[in-house]
Amino acid sequence: MKKVLLDETDLPDRWYNILPDLPAPPAPYLHPGTMQPLGPADLAPIFPQAIIAQEVSQDRWIEIPDQVREIYKIWRPTPLYRAERLERALETPARIYFKYEGVSPAGSHKPNTAVPQAYYNAQEGVKRLTTETGAGQWGSALALAGSFFDLEVTVYMVRVSYEQKPYRRALMETWGATVFASPTDRTNSGRAILARDFRFLGSLGIAISEAVEDAAIRDDSKYFLGSVVNHVLLHQTVIGQEAKKQMEMVGAYPDVVIGCVGGGSNYAGLAYPFMADRLSGARPDTRFIAAEPAACPTLTRGVYAYDFGDTAGVGPVAMMYTLGHNFVPDPIHAGGLRYHGDAPSLCLLVQQGLVEPRAYTQNQCFAEAVRFARVEGFLPAPEPSHALKAVAEEAAAAREAGDERVILFGLCGHGHFDMSAYDAYFAGKLEDVELSQQRIDTAVEELPKVPA
Ligand SMILES: Cc1ncc(COP(=O)(O)O)c(C=O)c1O
Repeated sequence: MKKVLLDETDLPDRWYNILPDLPAPPAPYLHPGTMQPLGPADLAPIFPQAIIAQEVSQDRWIEIPDQVREIYKIWRPTPLYRAERLERALETPARIYFKYEGVSPAGSHKPNTAVPQAYYNAQEGVKRLTTETGAGQWGSALALAGSFFDLEVTVYMVRVSYEQKPYRRALMETWGATVFASPTDRTNSGRAILARDFRFLGSLGIAISEAVEDAAIRDDSKYFLGSVVNHVLLHQTVIGQEAKKQMEMVGAYPDVVIGCVGGGSNYAGLAYPFMADRLSGARPDTRFIAAEPAACPTLTRGVYAYDFGDTAGVGPVAMMYTLGHNFVPDPIHAGGLRYHGDAPSLCLLVQQGLVEPRAYTQNQCFAEAVRFARVEGFLPAPEPSHALKAVAEEAAAAREAGDERVILFGLCGHGHFDMSAYDAYFAGKLEDVELSQQRIDTAVEELPKVPA
């Protein structure tokens, strides 16, 4: 079977929450001012109550509201494909499957959480949403979700992406959002950065600071996060739940689950429902590989410590692998992977040896993306090209070992708005950045001091 399709009635009716199943209790978030554990009340200025409850919930399953499922049905369930042509191109005995999230209107997995977040905010009377966006995928998803629930959306887009991807901005505007190139002079955080360097190309950390600040000073506004935090990962688990059913339909179970990691949401969404089987002992041998950019090697080379989620230190402090909240990655084209930290639950799984992180430079990833496009047709976004590089490595390992391992990976978005990146790749203009240890050491010097 080439593609495995589910019926609308197979759409999951609950999200899977991994928190109660983690091998160790997750470290609590800390308040950025006091460095003491954060209570739900501290989150109230930025998130609606329903989201705060999900963020700290210990319930394994959380019901998906009917109105959210109705909107999910526009593009869900998404297809699962067998990549036989890629298997042949890679000359591997491995069986490769991929779950394709590029069929959503915004072109990636991001609407899976944008829609429920917009829903809960609308329910609680919020009128205006603010957020940051790197590659523009998250901003597009939120603009889309805002248009479904009649909410005003303001997006702070990292300047380098704003310049690289003008059509992502136009897409957000089509769905009614207002988009600013961050850093801006609209916020204290932005002005402080511009005062130091007015040509600064921006980073996700700074764009987050601007969006949080904007939401915190207006009563009608709330801030939206597209990755990293528990509730976002939770919403994305529709991906893995569907994939599990689809793999069952072809009588297979993955030996290895691969995805790219920026903040961890698409990968967690695909992997956690399978990770549940590993943690329960039902499938103790499944391996998990998280692929990240060598220019922003959070999981492979970061330190495991408490750090601010944003550059200005206005949002919650989380225990995670981090390159330091002041770290500004080089402007690689996988804009969505340029984040200094990662989801705390995923970091915990890496720290416990349950997820293996790997880092790749961009030319080797684009080479795999082009190979994939030429044999399977779909054009990957630069972010999942990192997953494709890991797939190629696993396929080669399967060839050497002579085994037919089953590989499942997440193709979390299409690259139709990333053609300038492909152009740069074909012109040989992409730089491969290997981060110096000195740069990492300097960046992590400013980690917040946490009382023992
Ligand atoms: C297509 C795509 N993939 C991956 C990511 C990385 O985010 P996450 O690790 O949360 O999936 C982004 C983020 O913007 C993205 O746009």
